[in-house]
Amino acid sequence: MSALIQLAGVSKVYDSGGLAVQALDEVSLHIEAGEFVALMGASGSGKSTLMNILGCLDRPTDGRYLLQGVDVSDLDTEELADIRNEQIGFVFQNFHLFSRTSALENIELPLLYRHQRRLSARKQRKMAQEALEMVGLTDRADHHPNQLSGGQQQRVAIARALVNGPELVLADEPTGNLDTRTSEEIMAVLQSLNRRGITIVLVTHEADVARHARRAVTLRDGRVTSDELAFGFAPGQPAWQSTATMKLGAEVAR
Ligand SMILES: Nc1ncnc2c1ncn2[C@@H]1O[C@H](COP(=O)(O)OP(=O)(O)O)[C@@H](O)[C@H]1O
Ligand SMILES: [Mg+2]
Repeated sequence: MSALIQLAGVSKVYDSGGLAVQALDEVSLHIEAGEFVALMGASGSGKSTLMNILGCLDRPTDGRYLLQGVDVSDLDTEELADIRNEQIGFVFQNFHLFSRTSALENIELPLLYRHQRRLSARKQRKMAQEALEMVGLTDRADHHPNQLSGGQQQRVAIARALVNGPELVLADEPTGNLDTRTSEEIMAVLQSLNRRGITIVLVTHEADVARHARRAVTLRDGRVTSDELAFGFAPGQPAWQSTATMKLGAEVAR
């Protein structure tokens, strides 16, 4: 079985006014279908650059990226757009909702961009309603974003990310603009999606947020400096970062 995501020696060099900035430096990473990965690291460590590559929004300068076994560098612009729309759901820190349309209409948008398998208006409405149900917000279908709290807006954005039934959800600091309690709620929503089998890669610089994931990958200066799996994972338990877990690991190894 091949991994959902396979990065091999992926580098990204930006040209910043004649100056070369190495944002990613030979990153190799495998992520299996069904994983929940927190991508961590200080500001400037390359997290967003990596997410852009994973989301087929940008290409590596060097190295290979296989998504579901397909080398995305072989795909043309339109094929990449289809992958972004139908196989990947994006969630952002600032929600990125259209303010003049209802929650339900925001969620329907990715369905309108489909090139293949166009759907009837009725089917679209039904799929948007189902996505809204997955994030527990059915009673707010007709509300506009400014009539919703930050946490509710992020739920709508997550529903929009889900509506095409993606295998992979990429979330770049989805709780960055939310208070602690609301962040916990959003992480619970992401966990419930992961339990349904959706692969999640989440960028955060907060350990409190990352502990909801099952695996934490840390970047520093564009390189992976640690990659830890939470064994004995339980919600609310910072398993991968606790010294108790590390000690336990050492004892098992002995
Ligand atoms: N479009 C760009 N042009 C030039 N440099 C960039 C660009 N995007 C990011 N960088 C640089 O690449 C490095 C990694 O940035 P980024 O991936 O945004 O880090 P993070 O998301 O971890 O804060 C930083 O040094 C940043 O300044
Ligand atoms: Mg960033």
